[in-house]
Amino acid sequence: MKRILTYGTFDLLHYGHIRLLKRARALGDYLIIGLSTDEFNAGKGKKAYHSFESRKEMLESVRYVDLVIPEETWEQKLDDVLEYRVDTVVMGGDWAGSDRFEYLKDYCEVVYLDRTEGVSTTLIREELGM
Ligand code: CTP
Repeated sequence: MKRILTYGTFDLLHYGHIRLLKRARALGDYLIIGLSTDEFNAGKGKKAYHSFESRKEMLESVRYVDLVIPEETWEQKLDDVLEYRVDTVVMGGDWAGSDRFEYLKDYCEVVYLDRTEGVSTTLIREELGM
């Protein structure tokens, strides 16, 4: 059983998210999402349109997702890797080489997947004037 873990906010769920999740799940047998809480986002000056509970409910209904856990701090990642016996942490290419993830390579595989061009939550919000 190969376990994969990825992090994000996944607000206004779009096909870029779904493709990321599909490719992440295909790297193993069990996909866990560390879903950013509203409090964690507030600390970053971000506010999702959908609440944590709504984003969680939507992700739990996606066929590639096996488990959703809260992401509450930057520092929890190593604990998550150990607690859930994670083999591979997957992030979008926008995080490639980031100190936030590179140190995890001592404990598991870290893989960066290319983002889907032309779509993002920010772009959707801008285009809808949100
Ligand atoms: N992602 C992707 N392709 C996109 C958008 C997102 O592969 N076009 C990936 C990100 O790289 C990340 C995950 O989906 O691994 C969750 O990203 P998130 O930041 O929640 O979504 P974005 O659409 O990038 O949101 P924002 O515009 O607020 O940054």
